[in-house]
This record gives sequence, C-alpha cells and structure tokens, in this order.
Amino acid sequence: MKEERRAAASDILPVTRTKTEAKRFYDRASGIYDLLTRAFERRFAEMALERLDVREGEAVLEIGFGSGHCLTSIARAVGREGGAHGIDISGGMLAVARKKLVRSELEDRAHPVLGDAARLPYRDSVFDAIFMSYTLELFDTAEIPQVLKETGRVLKPGGRLAVASLSREDGASLMLRLYEWAHVRWPKYADCRPIYVERSLRDAGFEIQAKDKVRWFGLPNEIVVGVNPESPQRPH
Ligand SMILES: C[S@@+](CC[C@H](N)C(=O)[O-])C[C@H]1O[C@@H](n2cnc3c(N)ncnc32)[C@H](O)[C@@H]1O
Repeated sequence: MKEERRAAASDILPVTRTKTEAKRFYDRASGIYDLLTRAFERRFAEMALERLDVREGEAVLEIGFGSGHCLTSIARAVGREGGAHGIDISGGMLAVARKKLVRSELEDRAHPVLGDAARLPYRDSVFDAIFMSYTLELFDTAEIPQVLKETGRVLKPGGRLAVASLSREDGASLMLRLYEWAHVRWPKYADCRPIYVERSLRDAGFEIQAKDKVRWFGLPNEIVVGVNPESPQRPH
C-alpha cells in the first residue's frame, strides 16, 4: 500500500510556478475566465456540484471559486438561512465573483474572501459541505494532503466534500501525455495537472460516497464525493 502511494505521488508532475505567479495569472484571466472555461471545466464543475447535493440552510464552502459561477449556484441553493462561503487566492477573481453575486441579488448570504486554501481561515467543524473544482490539482503534491486535512478540519463530522479534477488514475494516454507536456512547457498557463483524486481523499481519511469518471477530448477527469468520518482519525 505504501509502495503504491509512493509510486502514485512520484508520477504526478510537480508544480513549478509560484503562488504569486498563480495569483497574477488568475488576476489577469479573471475578466475572460467565463469565456475560457465555458466549453470544458464548467460542465464537469456543474456535475460535481450536482453530486454534492447542496441543501437549503446549509453552510457550504467553495475553495478556488474563480469567477463565481458555482458559488452563485451554491448561494441560490442554500437559501436565505444558509451561507455560501468561498476562498480564492486571486483578487481579480474575487471582484468578478462579487459582481456576479450582487447582480444575482445573492450577496446577503455569500461570503467570498481572499486567501490561500492551504490554511483555511475558519473554525473547526463549521461547514456542512465543501466544493472544489479544478483547484486541488493546482497544489503541489506535498501540499494536497495538507489542503485535504484542512477541509476535513473545517467540515462537520459527516460533512461532504466534492472534488472535480484532471485525473491520472487510468495511466498516461496520448492526450494526457500531450497535456502534461504542455504543463511542463507552460506551467503558468496549463497549470492544472492530473492527480489521483479518489486515492488522495481516501488517504486523507474521507469515506468515498460517489465517483464519476468523465473525459473531455480524451483527457480523464474524476468527480469524487467523500464524507468526513463521524470521528475523524487523520494522518498527522
Ligand atoms: C482553474 S481555476 C477554477 C475556478 C473554478 N473553481 C472553476 O471550476 O471554474 C482555479 C481557481 O483556484 C484559485 N486558486 C489557485 N491557487 C489557490 C490557493 N492556493 N488558494 C485558494 N485559491 C487558489 C485561482 O485563483 C482560481 O480562481
């Protein structure tokens, strides 16, 4: 098992761009981000959000909310009694998301903030559900368990976590290798890189509730819902 984990970690590409570079990239892209992602990520992000099954009155956190498309849906789903919280490292994305929430008249229940999700600025066990689309794979390999540990800490026992991400689970197809080549060549732009989603959630102590595998132009994606155990015993 340990061998398998080590092998899995070693074939994930490293993140070579800094967080300052990531922030700068997303600040610049924020104005056109909706146009860039409409054909690809959005469909799978919406699918993952559907799997999370957000209910009225819940407190839900989105990590890496981007232009706020899904955060707006979350704010609508939780209703007046619930809360749609969000954290993103880019001030440009925060501004775009805020505008969208105001336009949809949902700002009263939405609380997007600026920050690095490696250290979540929330108390323990406050959220019913957490949503993360195309963001977990932006963290370097050693930081992924740290981010998942933080999600486990702020989720209530029994709380749900939905993650959509590029996946390395089925090995390196031609398309995946091409994409990884692009990631190595242009790490600031093709910044998402395929990771092991289900395995990472399991290793972090989540119980897997649902999983879908989907493809876009041959690129594999995992959509996984995990449940925070009632009495978490997480690896330190
Ligand atoms: C690929 S975009 C995905 C946006 C949105 N979730 C979607 O599916 O359209 C990744 C988002 O994560 C944010 N991000 C990157 N690194 C982050 C970090 N360390 N902490 C919080 N947010 C981060 C970026 O600013 C960006 O908005």
